[in-house]
Amino acid sequence: MKHASALKVLFGLSFAICAQAQDGVLDLTTLHNYANQSRPLYITRDNTPGNNAITDAGATLGRVLFHDKRLSRDNTVSCASCHQQSHAFADTPVVSTGVDGTTSRHSMRLINARFGNEPRFFWDERVTSLENQTTQPVRNHVEMGFSGSSGDPAFADLVTKLSAIPEYRVLFAMTFGNATISEVRIQRSLAQFVRSIQSFDSKYDTGRKNANDNQNFANFTTAENAGKQLFLNPPPQGGAGCAACHVPPEFSIDPNSRNNGVIGSLSGGIDTTNTRSPSLRDLVGPGGQSNGAFMHDGSLATLADVINHYNLIPMTNTPTTNANLDPRLRPGGNLQNLRLSQTQKDNLVAFMRTLTGTSVYTEEKWSNPFNAQNELELIILPENASTITKNANGTATLRCLSAANLSYQLESSTDLEHWSTVGTMTADAAGLIERTVNIVPPAAFYRFTYTVPSP
Ligand code: HEC
Ligand code: HEC
Repeated sequence: MKHASALKVLFGLSFAICAQAQDGVLDLTTLHNYANQSRPLYITRDNTPGNNAITDAGATLGRVLFHDKRLSRDNTVSCASCHQQSHAFADTPVVSTGVDGTTSRHSMRLINARFGNEPRFFWDERVTSLENQTTQPVRNHVEMGFSGSSGDPAFADLVTKLSAIPEYRVLFAMTFGNATISEVRIQRSLAQFVRSIQSFDSKYDTGRKNANDNQNFANFTTAENAGKQLFLNPPPQGGAGCAACHVPPEFSIDPNSRNNGVIGSLSGGIDTTNTRSPSLRDLVGPGGQSNGAFMHDGSLATLADVINHYNLIPMTNTPTTNANLDPRLRPGGNLQNLRLSQTQKDNLVAFMRTLTGTSVYTEEKWSNPFNAQNELELIILPENASTITKNANGTATLRCLSAANLSYQLESSTDLEHWSTVGTMTADAAGLIERTVNIVPPAAFYRFTYTVPSP
């Protein structure tokens, strides 16, 4: 298996290689834009911590980790197995399948996870940050199986495993300045990738650009505008009170929310601990298809079921069975009964369908970079990691910063298709590869490649 990394150098001409998107090829000379994506001015909530701002390199590494099945103990499950781009980064079955059985809660959409002021994650908010969340599935015995108990390898074994994979040494070196792999670095890059997943090209956003939430949107149907008003207004004013907990325009969960009266548990009994919802954006896909069952236990199959639930909070929510029911859903001590008409219910559903975007489902920057064999074949190092110095004597010195102690070949080409080997060299302990070549016409491209020893 030949893995190429490296340096593109062009003498005489100056144009950039525009590598065509190909499975298994990661072109780091043209990183996708993750750090400076535009977002609407009205989007202000943001849970990015001061020490982990998104960078293009970090999110690129996160993308590779997110889609890599080698993060599971038996190389069968990646984050993307349960969080599929085509389903708003959720899973359609009620439970998802990991390396040893099925999950005890429904998978969550990862759209706009960044844009909320609840810093804690999971349905029950049991982790204090997205960074801490990202390695929990890896450490989970059922999901990815580096739990260190029940016969599983430990997280340290994953670090050892990844450290032996040359492309990770290249990617960690690009992102963090050296190839050391640690749990903190894995967390930071995965969290950057997840925070980068954003969706702001919905019908709602088109309308919201030119109006406040309380004004009718020009691009909405009458039903959608009526549904929006029901969503926004509190029950005493004839509304359904949704916005108190799913706060627009992010539709992120109110940090003070308690549970919403859905108290089923997939492992039996009841579970009253679920006080977080993912953003209500992209509940359905661009074609209107559901992105999965709703709620932590997947018990509500459709948006109509969701509205019926809130319309009349079930009698199972007595103060003794569910002391954690949010007081807003038990006004005056009685379980909420909104008495919505069928038209009002339909309008609410119509409004929720306007919260769906398009591009997030297909954009390459969030897609699987691996080929069908789960391999990366070619990594081209970023230009900013390489330098060319033209010397007085008709030679040029090519330098490239990469992962330490890897053995590289320098290759040259005049047509970017056929490559021939110029020589072999080993990166020093600081990761520096250096080679001096004669400048001779015709203009040539150069790149450093490395061959991964067969296992
Ligand atoms: C086997 C299926 C499975 C795998 C693999 C998996 N997840 Fe999840 N994910 C889930 C489920 C189920 C939940 C909800 C669990 C809960 O709340 O108890 C979840 C929740 C999350 C959340 C919380 C979202 C929120 O809004 O609170 C994030 C973030 C997340 N996963 C990211 C990841 C990342 C990153 C990976 C890979 C390292 C990963 N997941 C691997 C099934 C999976
Ligand atoms: C008191 C706070 C509160 C109110 C009011 C509220 N919700 Fe929720 N909502 C939640 C919580 C908490 C969850 C997650 C519950 C769970 O899965 O156990 C949730 C989950 C949801 C989900 C499922 C999300 C998913 O990813 O599966 C939808 C859809 C939803 N709510 C819509 C609404 C609508 C529509 C209204 C108004 C009729 C509303 N909510 C009112 C707190 C609230």
